Amino acid sequence: MIELMTISSMLCFTYKMITMSPLEDQKEMFLIVLLVLLCSTILITISAFSWRSHGQQKAFRLPQGDMGWPVLGETLPFLKPHPSTSIGDFMQQRISKHGKIFMSNLLGKPTVVSADAELNRFILQADSRLFEPGWSRSIGEVLGKHSILLQVGDAHKKMRSINLNFANNGKLKTPFLRDAYRIAAFVMSSWKNDSVVLGKYEARKLCFHMMAKNILSLEPGTPVTEKLRKEYEAFAKGVVSLPLNLPGTAYSKALKARSYILEVVWQCMEERLCRKKDVEEEDAKDDLLQWTLENSNYSEEQIGDLILGTFFGGYNTTSKAIALAIYFLGGCPKAVEQFEEHDRIVQGKRRGGNSELSCDDYKQMEFTQCVINETLRLGNIVPYIQRKASTHIKFKGYDIPQGCNVMAVLPAVHLDPSFFESPEQFNPWRWQSDHGIRRTNNFMAFGGGARLCPGAVLGRMEMAVFLHHLVINFNWELAEPDLPMAFPSLDFPKGLPIKVRLLSNPQVSM
Ligand code: HEM
Ligand SMILES: *[C@@H]1O[C@H](CO)[C@@H](O)[C@H](O)[C@H]1NC(C)=O
Ligand SMILES: *[C@@H]1O[C@H](CO)[C@@H](O)[C@H](O)[C@H]1NC(C)=O
Ligand SMILES: *[C@@H]1O[C@H](CO)[C@@H](O)[C@H](O)[C@H]1NC(C)=O
Ligand SMILES: *[C@@H]1O[C@H](CO)[C@@H](O)[C@H](O)[C@H]1NC(C)=O
Repeated sequence: MIELMTISSMLCFTYKMITMSPLEDQKEMFLIVLLVLLCSTILITISAFSWRSHGQQKAFRLPQGDMGWPVLGETLPFLKPHPSTSIGDFMQQRISKHGKIFMSNLLGKPTVVSADAELNRFILQADSRLFEPGWSRSIGEVLGKHSILLQVGDAHKKMRSINLNFANNGKLKTPFLRDAYRIAAFVMSSWKNDSVVLGKYEARKLCFHMMAKNILSLEPGTPVTEKLRKEYEAFAKGVVSLPLNLPGTAYSKALKARSYILEVVWQCMEERLCRKKDVEEEDAKDDLLQWTLENSNYSEEQIGDLILGTFFGGYNTTSKAIALAIYFLGGCPKAVEQFEEHDRIVQGKRRGGNSELSCDDYKQMEFTQCVINETLRLGNIVPYIQRKASTHIKFKGYDIPQGCNVMAVLPAVHLDPSFFESPEQFNPWRWQSDHGIRRTNNFMAFGGGARLCPGAVLGRMEMAVFLHHLVINFNWELAEPDLPMAFPSLDFPKGLPIKVRLLSNPQVSM
């Protein structure tokens, strides 16, 4: 009886949580949660602590913690929306109760949760034989079974080297800058003086077109590219949705979008392979698809999944990073005033009669790099990284049993006052001062170790070029209060409406 009452109060809580959350498919979600809760009443006789007592029998020293409800565990409080610039109630309460390393039951699995900088570094940097990817199986259906996220060992290294070569190749850097510059101008050319634009969508446009251009050589503004953009939005939504393949769910839409995008990729591939014979070398395209065709023996499916994965990795993250930078800078005019480096670059270009950004120009954006680091630290685009222990692991006197999930909570370190003074403040200047090693060591926005983001250089460059265009052409302020929320994936509930004013002396032909 008591259990039933608790369940009904939990239902109320769930419903409240869902109506507060920015999820679109709220009703769908509510029904599913209801279903799961009903199932869990049946399972309620099974002890929630079976995992723990099992552990004690073998004299393990598991971290302390609660396993919460059967099946659901503590997933609902964990997913409760909170601003991404804070760690949220769940983490706060558990850390003060159990310490920075604790045990929970999240997303259907017993999980060691780490808010500890050393354990986070260990999880990310440990030999790849200790941890394997901890993604749920459903992600493989949407992202593909050959996705880099699911690869291990040598297969992972090989796919990763293709990604790294693509994103970091010196030969490609100048074209990247040129494309980002052109695309930023393309996106901002539609902004009218004294109007309100939604920062989130404008940032998504830039990042989508950057990826489309550099992965498949698709130009912005063409019908094929626009159709692909729509499909890609559906795809990105489905990756984090509940894996329920029923008509109308975000998941089934994502699966459909996946097949459409793969069709486009394969069509491009066919064209390349046919044309190869009768076209001169110089016409060869300089994109990821071409690179992969020439430098790997991957099958059609593998190339499809590689391209989908890179698209996904480079689109959803970087666009959020740009939106966050607009948001933080909007609340920090002092930092915008300090952007003299952008005026210097513009003046230099006027004198040189060259309108394109060069690598030397990019090197001048020193304060911009501080703004970028600070944005990624405080904004926390990637809230956690999940792995699974491939073997029994001991750390700081704790046991992590084989097969147990581990979760490195990145914001917990980024917002820890012992590493970053007044962590809740947007303070790009903190990246200018000395003692940088300690800070850099605890900055993990791009992950670390064998899976360190291969697109970090490219992502930073896109952010810098977007900001360059923004500050030399516009004044802006938030048109309405909005906040970056952390779950289910970082999002501005109102789309980040900003009021833009064209400067009297715009630097780009609009
Ligand atoms: C500011 C923007 C970005 C952020 C914050 C970011 C963050 C991350 C993080 C934290 C990981 C590690 C995931 C893990 O360890 O499981 C990662 C992996 C990855 N990122 Fe990024 N990323 C960004 C931009 C990009 C871009 C532009 C690309 C594409 C060119 C990209 C492609 C990838 C890929 C392919 C992986 C998987 C690497 C692997 O598993 O070996 N990312 N990213
Ligand atoms: C990607 O971003 C879109 C828009 O903010 C969001 O709906 C979707 O859930 C995101 N996907 C992931 C996996 O973060
Ligand atoms: C690619 O080549 C490697 C050896 O270099 C081989 O092990 C692998 O099976 C090949 N893959 C395909 C798809 O042919
Ligand atoms: C920003 O962070 C990176 C680590 O990802 C570090 O290498 C770099 O030095 C930092 N930049 C500044 C300006 O501190
Ligand atoms: C933009 O609009 C503002 C206010 O409406 C006006 O003062 C300013 O001159 C305009 N700027 C340009 C470049 O048209």
